[in-house]
Amino acid sequence: MSKTVGLALLGAGTVGGGVLTLLQENADLLYAQTGKRFVVRHVVVRDLSKPRTIPIPPRVLTTDAQRAFADPKVSVVLELMGGLEPARSYIREALQRGKHVITANKLVMAVAGEELIRLAQQQRVRLLYEASVAGSLPILTALQGALAGNRITRVVGIVNSTTNFILREMERAVEANEPAETAYANALRKAQELGYAEADPTSDVEGYDAQYKTAILARLAFLQYVPVESVYREGITHLSGRDLLWAARLQMGLKLLSITERLPDGRLCARVHPTLIPREHPLYAVRGAFSGVWLQGNGFQEMFFHGFGAGARATASAVIGDLIEIARHPRPLKLEDPSLRAGETAPIDVLTMRYYLRFRAPDEASAQPLRNTLTSLGAKLYPPEVLPDGIEQVALTPPLLESDLQRQLAEWRRHTALTVQCIRLLE
Ligand code: NAP
Ligand code: HSE
Repeated sequence: MSKTVGLALLGAGTVGGGVLTLLQENADLLYAQTGKRFVVRHVVVRDLSKPRTIPIPPRVLTTDAQRAFADPKVSVVLELMGGLEPARSYIREALQRGKHVITANKLVMAVAGEELIRLAQQQRVRLLYEASVAGSLPILTALQGALAGNRITRVVGIVNSTTNFILREMERAVEANEPAETAYANALRKAQELGYAEADPTSDVEGYDAQYKTAILARLAFLQYVPVESVYREGITHLSGRDLLWAARLQMGLKLLSITERLPDGRLCARVHPTLIPREHPLYAVRGAFSGVWLQGNGFQEMFFHGFGAGARATASAVIGDLIEIARHPRPLKLEDPSLRAGETAPIDVLTMRYYLRFRAPDEASAQPLRNTLTSLGAKLYPPEVLPDGIEQVALTPPLLESDLQRQLAEWRRHTALTVQCIRLLE
C-alpha cells in the first residue's frame, strides 16, 4: 500500500458524514498512527442536491458507484449506505476488483457475511465490519483478537441503541406519571432526528436490527455460522408503561437483550427479546443511546463493554478503527477465515426460564382460573390492583420450559376476556 490511501465512500448520511468529519478532524493523528494519508476520491450518494452535514467537493460527489470501483487509485471502499441491495452487490463488486471493504451494514453481514468473507479471502483483501455491531464498541475486534483464546459460553448484549433510548424515555415518563405511549412516539422521532434509528425504524423496534447483530456476534464469539432466521426475535412494540412501572417495583430493568449461549447438548441458542434484568447486572446501567455487551469465557471469566452504540461520531470511530487496521495490515489474516463449524442451533423452546406475567381481567371471576394455574405452577403472585378497566395482577414464575409456557399462554389468550403480557427474566 502506498503512502496515500484512496477511499470511496458509498453513502454520506449519518455514518458517512461522521466518517468524513473524523477523517478531516483527525488527519494528523491518522498519519501518526499509520504513516499514510487518506484521500477521499469518491462519495457515492442517491441525491446530489441533498444538503450535507459536511461540505463535500462537487468533483467527488457522484451517483455513479461504477466510477468509484473503476478508479485504480481507490484501494478501500467504505459501504455506509445500508439495506441489502445494492449494498451487497457493491461490496461483492469492490472485493472482486481487489479493493478492501469496510462496512457498517449488519443486514448484509448477517445475511451474506459468509459468502463475502470467503470472497475477500480469495481476493486477498480485507473485509472489516466493526461498526455493524454496537456502534463504537470494539467487540468484534476483541472477539477476533485479544479474546480469541477463550471458549465463549455466553454473550448478552444491548445491541440496539434506538430501542434502549426509547425504553429509557418511557421509563422517565412513568416516573413522572406521564403517558408512556406519548414518550414512545416522541423518543422514536428524536432517535430518527439524532440519526440513531435505521432508515426504516421498524427494523429497530421490531428487533430485526438486533437479530442481524446477534447473528454476527454469535458467529464470531462461537465460531459457528448462525443463520439469521435461527435467531429468535421479539421487539418492543408490545411493551407498555405498566411493564416499566412493574419493572421498577420489582427492582429490575427492562431491556431489549440479545442473548447467545452454548447449551449443555452443544447446540447454540440465540435470541432477541425484551428481558427483565436485576439491578446488580452491569447491563442494567446501560441507558439511552448506549450499547453494552457482557460476555463470559473460560479464560477471562467475564467482561463488559459499554459505550455509544449509534450516532455519527461513535459509529465513525469504529469505521476509522477498521481503516487504520487495513492501512497497517492490508493482507488478510487467518482470523477472518469463515471455515466455521457447521454446528446446530436450538430453538428458544428448549430453554428453561423464569417469566413475568402481567394479566388483566374484567372481574374477579375471570381472573381466578388463571390465578389457580399460576399457583399450581408455584408462581409468586403480587396483590391485584383494581384499574378503571378491570383487575391487573403480576406473577413471577419459577423456571419453566419455554414450550410449556407458550402452550399455556396460548390457552389463556384464547379467553378473550383476558390479556396476558409475558416477559422473560435474565437468569
Ligand atoms: P443514512 O443516514 O440513511 O445514510 C445513507 C446514505 O447512503 C445516504 O447518503 C444515501 O444517499 C446513501 N444511499 C442510500 N442508498 C443508496 C443507493 N442505492 N445508491 C447510492 N447511495 C445510497 O444511513 P446511516 O444511518 O448513515 O446508516 C448507514 C449504514 O450504517 C446502515 O447499514 C446502518 O445500519 C449502519 N449503521 C448506522 C448507525 C447509525 O447510528 N446511524 C450505526 C451503526 C451502523 P442520500 O444522502 O443521497 O440519500
Ligand atoms: N439503528 C441502530 C441502533 C444503529 O439503534 O442501534 C446502530 O447500529
